[in-house]
Amino acid sequence: MNVSAVQTIETAEDANQKAVHSDMISPRFYTTDFAAMDRINIEPVRAEWDRMMAEYEGDNNHDHFQRDAAFADEVATGMATLSPEMRQEFMDFLVSSLTSEFSGCVLYNEIRKNVNNPDIKKLMTYLARDESRHAGFINLSLRDFNLGIDLGNLKRTKKYTFFKPKYIYYATYLSEKIGYARYITIFRQLEKHPEKRFHPIFRWFELWCNDEFRHGESFALIMRANPQLLRGANKLWIRFFLLAVYATMYVRDHMRPMLHDAMGLDSSEYDYQVFRITTEITKQVFPLALDTDHPAFRRGLERLFAISQAMEKAKVRGGLMGKAQQGVCAVQAFLTFARLYCMPVIEQDLSPQVRMEPAW
Ligand SMILES: [Fe+2]
Ligand SMILES: [Fe+2]
Repeated sequence: MNVSAVQTIETAEDANQKAVHSDMISPRFYTTDFAAMDRINIEPVRAEWDRMMAEYEGDNNHDHFQRDAAFADEVATGMATLSPEMRQEFMDFLVSSLTSEFSGCVLYNEIRKNVNNPDIKKLMTYLARDESRHAGFINLSLRDFNLGIDLGNLKRTKKYTFFKPKYIYYATYLSEKIGYARYITIFRQLEKHPEKRFHPIFRWFELWCNDEFRHGESFALIMRANPQLLRGANKLWIRFFLLAVYATMYVRDHMRPMLHDAMGLDSSEYDYQVFRITTEITKQVFPLALDTDHPAFRRGLERLFAISQAMEKAKVRGGLMGKAQQGVCAVQAFLTFARLYCMPVIEQDLSPQVRMEPAW
């Protein structure tokens, strides 16, 4: 077992340790104020809400998360082409994807159990259903390499972060939409270059990300039904969550450059494409967007990544010097984040109709 900063995943114990581990950029588990969530009113968007609930009920992905006959062969041939380092990055990708899927599953289930509001309760039942399928499907792929995650244990032992309901809406909306943008960008790339599809799981991404897209729609409707969440000082929170989510994704993705390279993607280009898609989608709900194509914004993200690399080195070094270096890195990261936060944003008008089609 290896729990040092540069963690490799060799055994099921490593994989489970990695999933439970919490740091700045690893996916987290959340809990919230259920009583406040109970008071949510979605009447202002009732017509769009009911249409969405009918889609959930129709469950068009009911049979999607089943492996087909070709799956096992594709795993064998695809994995044989990967270097040991690349294989590590892919395992890391599977573990962190599973942790985020399962994080959604746990949160939605907790909300479902603890609220009485019939609209929210019903929504959470569907969301938890979808996320549990997603997590289960990734776990099957980890089990192929004897790296299965014990989800019951993960639920019991991982640390939970408390978020007020409004933070849950901003953060969850964004992570669902970013999840969509990430999966569809990978799917489109491998559709064009099937020779680069080194694992069959990517064939599932297109219909899979439609689930994520719809999950995001639910939170967009909740926020549009409660427009005070999108005004005044709350705009500062929206800005904060946009930056926190984008920056985390950027740093995490740049830690596994080989994974994108194997798919014929450059990590930075991939991330900026994901940001552009996400920004386009957020016009349904957020009154502002980050100017992610601005050179100063890009320099800021590069700097955050460089600082996180220095932080990893300092952790490995250990001792008093290592600790001091970690402190310096933390201050630098804070200042860089603050500078990015203060950059001018793009104001945007909200679309009259909330719902959008996953058209990318
Ligand atoms: Fe999901
Ligand atoms: Fe989702």
